[in-house]
Amino acid sequence: MKNVLVVGSTGQIGSELTMALRARYGNTNVVAGYIPGCEPKGELAESGPLAIVDVTDGKTIAEAVAQHRIDTIYNLAALLSVVAESKPRLAWRVGIDGLWNILEVAHDRGCAVFTPSSIGSFGLETPHDHTPQDTIQRPRTIYGVSKVTTELLSEWFHHKYGVDTRSVRFPGIISYVTPPGGGTTDYAVDIYYSAVRGETFVCPIKAGTRMDMMYMPDALRAAIELMEADPSRLTHHNGFNVAAMSFDPEMLREEIRKHVPTFKMVYDVDPLKQAIAESWPDVMDDSCARNEWGWQHEYDLPRMTADMLEKLRARLDA
Ligand code: SER
Repeated sequence: MKNVLVVGSTGQIGSELTMALRARYGNTNVVAGYIPGCEPKGELAESGPLAIVDVTDGKTIAEAVAQHRIDTIYNLAALLSVVAESKPRLAWRVGIDGLWNILEVAHDRGCAVFTPSSIGSFGLETPHDHTPQDTIQRPRTIYGVSKVTTELLSEWFHHKYGVDTRSVRFPGIISYVTPPGGGTTDYAVDIYYSAVRGETFVCPIKAGTRMDMMYMPDALRAAIELMEADPSRLTHHNGFNVAAMSFDPEMLREEIRKHVPTFKMVYDVDPLKQAIAESWPDVMDDSCARNEWGWQHEYDLPRMTADMLEKLRARLDA
């Protein structure tokens, strides 16, 4: 039986991952970790155990792990790329000092740890087309620097102390449930809200700028399936490229127009977001994840768009 702690359970990925893990392992076996001020609400709060877990305070992690006899930690505490650039010291404290605290507790108590990396771990010098698994990682954002460090620190704890650390490099994640906050790829979520509301979408990313994206159900499956993968099949442990689709704003607009023919988009490019987007891959090669643990995406751009629009309409009507 798995006893799981989700750190950052009220965030963009954490809120949906906690519910997916509860559906899989049983509600009482998945603890939603949160920081005061970001209390879980609704189903997340009511369906299972909660614990205050602040990654910057190792004692709170150790207490939750001991009290709930945790064997697996999903560490989702992080700041997204744009907001991290304006709060770099906090981004480091949460992303790296926080990860150190988690890994120390995991080492003491024999826990496996999942901590996501990102397309943000790459930089301008990285090959952008079919970005290989093992390649140049010289990001110039604090988000990217902390993601590369996440991969390396997780790997170091694995080799030095045998901690079972695993991670994927997530593309931009798209969901109709929890909105992202302060990411470069957020436009690909916001655009669907505009389409459903009948508004013109003002796109902050230039036409022709491709980035990898993934629909939330696939992202949740990637995290869970990697943690369940047979370790004897894994050559890599941390920083698996996982891909599902890659598009630029025009491709996304055209796909939405198949459902909302009157949909309009104009551009007002945000220089910071654009610079970050241009430093990230156009499309990643995720063959290592496919070969080592059987990764397969289910949603491409057409399938995601149909589902996003349907679910978002129902949500906004309700
Ligand atoms: N979605 C993230 C961001 O834009 C990338 O991992 O910051």
